[in-house]
Amino acid sequence: MIPKVRKAVFPAAGLGTRFLPATKAMPKEMLPLVDKPLIQYGVEEAIHSGIQNIIIVTGRGKSSIEDHFDVSFEMEQLLSSKNKKELLQVVQSVSEMTNLAYTRQKQALGLGHAVLQAKELVGPEPFAVVLSDDVIDAGVPCLRQLLDVYDFYGASVVALMEVPKDQISAYGVVDAEPISHVAGGDRLYRIRNLVEKPKAEEAPSNLAIIGRYVLTPEIFGSIESIEPGSGGELQLTDALKHLLRSRPIYGYKFEGSRYDAGDKLGFLKATVEFGLKRHDLGGPFREYLKKLTL
Ligand code: UTP
Repeated sequence: MIPKVRKAVFPAAGLGTRFLPATKAMPKEMLPLVDKPLIQYGVEEAIHSGIQNIIIVTGRGKSSIEDHFDVSFEMEQLLSSKNKKELLQVVQSVSEMTNLAYTRQKQALGLGHAVLQAKELVGPEPFAVVLSDDVIDAGVPCLRQLLDVYDFYGASVVALMEVPKDQISAYGVVDAEPISHVAGGDRLYRIRNLVEKPKAEEAPSNLAIIGRYVLTPEIFGSIESIEPGSGGELQLTDALKHLLRSRPIYGYKFEGSRYDAGDKLGFLKATVEFGLKRHDLGGPFREYLKKLTL
């Protein structure tokens, strides 16, 4: 029987240099998209995908993430005394959200290294990885789409997206062959190779890995076996390449829109799109945008 995925790891210990100076003292995962921090979108995606246990890998200066998901006693007292029931509910629903555990990455030594810090908390079972600066707006949550593939094959699955050639060198890129799949239409691939941040002319395809993964626990051994790669960091892509020697890995071209909210332009785009979609703000925001002389 294929073991169920019960846990999701959220690496949130990166330095967020692309978003300086905002990220000098504030974790990029706490940047608000309209009114919710990026990491909350990711946690909600995991919950809507059926995962209840969240493991957040934090680092120095990231305590506001823990505070955000904690009970805010003074705030609740204040809202309750002023009879602001709706706001009270918003605040309480965040702290009641799910089972959260935290572990620390003492130095930002790369995404692979961040995932490795969760080894003890994950244990010998499959798990998901969510990079919350990749915000994905989808009918069926992106992570759920990957879990459906995992539940069928019992192997690791990564989220894929087509990326223009001039941007490909910012991503982990796969060499993959399309395979037919009952539920997956033409979106499923079997991975043959992976390269982290290749030069555009050396990229094996235009299919980039986006921040959602379902991984089998052998990945921990692979991370422990590899040497630092691109940027001197322990790369998850390199560990996947190592894992590929002994296990199949699938890629799924997910349905939905992805925003790189860890990048200033991507964040602005996400803010506009999410603002327009909000039932309480969308109308007046659209009117405002229409009046702009562009
Ligand atoms: P990014 O590639 O976006 O790196 O990491 P970063 O360092 O946070 O940001 P920039 O590029 O300097 O602006 C992808 C994810 O992996 C986590 C980040 O927090 C982010 O969620 N990460 C990265 C870690 O947890 N630890 C690391 O050492 C590196």
